[in-house]
Amino acid sequence: MTATLDAPKFELKPYKSLSNEQLQERIQKIRDELGPKLLILGHHYQQDEVIAQVDLTGDSYQLSQMAADSSDCRAIAFCGVHFMAETADILANRPEKLAERGGERVRVILPDMAAGCSMADMAAIDQIEDAWDQLGEVLDTEDITPVTYINSAASLKAFVGRHGGIVCTSSNAQAALEWSFAKTSRVMFFPDQHLGRNTALGMGITTDEMPVWDPYAEELGGNSAEMLQQSKVILWKGHCSVHQMFRPEHVALFREQHPGIKILVHPECPREVFEIADEFGSTGKIIRMVESAPPGTKWAIGTELHLVNRLKQEHPEQEVYFLSPVVCMCATMYRIDLAHLCWSLENLVAGTPVNTIEVDEETARWSLVALERMLEVR
Ligand code: 13P
Ligand code: SF4
Repeated sequence: MTATLDAPKFELKPYKSLSNEQLQERIQKIRDELGPKLLILGHHYQQDEVIAQVDLTGDSYQLSQMAADSSDCRAIAFCGVHFMAETADILANRPEKLAERGGERVRVILPDMAAGCSMADMAAIDQIEDAWDQLGEVLDTEDITPVTYINSAASLKAFVGRHGGIVCTSSNAQAALEWSFAKTSRVMFFPDQHLGRNTALGMGITTDEMPVWDPYAEELGGNSAEMLQQSKVILWKGHCSVHQMFRPEHVALFREQHPGIKILVHPECPREVFEIADEFGSTGKIIRMVESAPPGTKWAIGTELHLVNRLKQEHPEQEVYFLSPVVCMCATMYRIDLAHLCWSLENLVAGTPVNTIEVDEETARWSLVALERMLEVR
């Protein structure tokens, strides 16, 4: 598994014509050969055939913990999206872990570099820095804690680390806001306005205390100085294109057609859906709720399609429905397939690794500050 600057030994194209059985066999051969030196992590939104090849699955918080706790592995193949692989690189290669391994890095591989996150792309670091500078003209930024959802680039996490802030996930967003309000009277939350708004509403903060910052507006994100001065949480105008597809009329239809059904949604859903749902949670919590419910429970679930379909298959004792009549799948998570996984693993073993995610030292150092706070706050 030594790194070289050579061109990849294997091209991707031939892998695309292999059957899933052939790919599974070849991936298994590498897993047998590398044993604990290779850790394959998978987010819950991955396709079933990919989930079947991973060592551990989790939501964003759990996957971060797994990368942080990894000890024997020397390579992590991350079946998820770009920001998750960056986070794994930062946590698996933090200074004390590097010291334990005598300086040897864990190589983190994202099988397809096009597996990004459209929400993370809605907040670029220069936009955040510009917003912070503009806020400084009307507010005391020392009294604002920046909070970034983990679905963001490492450069944003580093910004947050530098400015006394914290990273949150969908499973600890409220705790992260409470942590922030213990320090400052205001929060700036990016990039997901829905997670920020839903969480803050649950803490008694009102919508007029939550102006939305539009990075494309000419001045002050489209707000007046007064709106910002009376704010408690300044929300970034970003969203998840998958979760924004769920609508209140879908909830109404399920309740009409299936009396007693429980509506269970991810907090990235818009407020109108979130507020009328029965339950909410990260993908990990959604799974735990379905697993622990009595047989015969009826669920309409508002999160990515692959996860809901898997829950439906794995829990025939319960009635599981997808909350939307239209297909809401995460196209970028879906880019990770067995062909890319096999191709990246075979190149790794051949000593010509592809798609390594390595965050530069300075960014990693400050991101780690904010990520360690995230791991402490639950
Ligand atoms: P969690 O798995 O942390 O709930 O996040 C969902 C998601 O959208 C990941 O991008
Ligand atoms: Fe990003 Fe939404 Fe896909 Fe999650 S589901 S990776 S937030 S686009």
